[in-house]
Amino acid sequence: MLAGKRILLIIGGGIAAYKSLELIRLIRKEGGSVTPVLTRAGAEFVTPLSVGALAEAKVHEALFDLTAEAEMGHIELSRSADLVVVAPATADLLARMAGGLADDLASTLLLATDKRVLVAPAMNVRMWQHPATRRNLAALRGDGVLTVGPDKGEMACGEYGPGRMAEPSAIVAAISAALCAGPLLGRHVIVTSGPTHEPIDPVRYIANRSSGAQGAAIAAALRDLGARVTFVTGPAVVPPPAGVSVVAVETALEMADAVKAALPADAAVMAAAVADWRVANASVQKLKKDGSGKAPVLEFAENPDILAMVAQGARRPRLVVGFAAETTDVVANATTKRLRKGCDWIVANDVSPGTGVMGGPENAVVLIFEEGTETWPRMGKDEVARRLAVRIAEALR
Ligand code: CTP
Repeated sequence: MLAGKRILLIIGGGIAAYKSLELIRLIRKEGGSVTPVLTRAGAEFVTPLSVGALAEAKVHEALFDLTAEAEMGHIELSRSADLVVVAPATADLLARMAGGLADDLASTLLLATDKRVLVAPAMNVRMWQHPATRRNLAALRGDGVLTVGPDKGEMACGEYGPGRMAEPSAIVAAISAALCAGPLLGRHVIVTSGPTHEPIDPVRYIANRSSGAQGAAIAAALRDLGARVTFVTGPAVVPPPAGVSVVAVETALEMADAVKAALPADAAVMAAAVADWRVANASVQKLKKDGSGKAPVLEFAENPDILAMVAQGARRPRLVVGFAAETTDVVANATTKRLRKGCDWIVANDVSPGTGVMGGPENAVVLIFEEGTETWPRMGKDEVARRLAVRIAEALR
């Protein structure tokens, strides 16, 4: 996956630095090479000896290392890689990157490089949520810096939440996506995924059984072909893939706004199971039993059809792909749906309880085009996603 690729790995000073050793091992296992740079704080957590032994390369540490300057200056070091990876990227390192500081070797390399930079943030949950970190990250993303993680979970400091560095395998996936000169390089694809939650009152909502598995697999497959993916997801069970830009929403109205904001795009794949209706008279207070035995009456308002809005809108992507979840007359219903919504393709599937598709690992789909239909055998959702991504790449060629 990474054969011949050169990674400049900057190891920041966080407890997650121990995972960078595994990261070095995995990059090399995939055929890549690693030039390690250890910050002063990083060296408090892992030793140059273990980093150098795993990388089988010189570990760069100080900015004014005269031997290194004679052998290879920091400018050259920053450019001789295919990708610069910062893992762990601490709050301090991110702040220094965002501010354009160059007061040590790592920050100097990051300022001098002409290569893409991928950061794997790792910090305490409060530091991650702090407005300063949010600001720095937004600035870095604006500069084109790629991010992977952080994950949610138990942290070394005893707290729970987002801030844990992404697993080394996820970082490797993000590295290969960043380096991949796939057929979708330079293309922007919007993918919607997961269910939507439509509130009844502050504690209750109407939802559906979508796990978000198919949408997440499609986003990952498009990413692997080099696309820049905006992944607009409702509250799904399956976590979003690494290496895509995630916009988490809850309701259909929020999803519609997020999709509009993500346009323009070369293609849109609408895999979300959007609620057709929202509760028009959703209560701001929790609904209470009033003792009369009378059930509350919910009134519904129709949600915007996001797929139709995109397919028929002024900024229509070149290719618009919809899904049709059906339980009867799959092909006939999906064919009418394609025409009614104005999309190019419909991926139709039978989601009847007996099929195990909803929430399950497999899918059996029929592709519906203007010219006709194509029935795919039952296969893993990852495989459906890979095939679909290849077809999308062909259509956008
Ligand atoms: N869709 C959408 N916005 C909605 C409803 C559906 O974008 N408000 C998209 C889905 O993401 C999917 C396609 O439309 O790509 C079809 O979804 P489906 O639920 O099967 O169709 P519906 O429009 O809900 O039609 P019906 O309920 O009549 O089957």
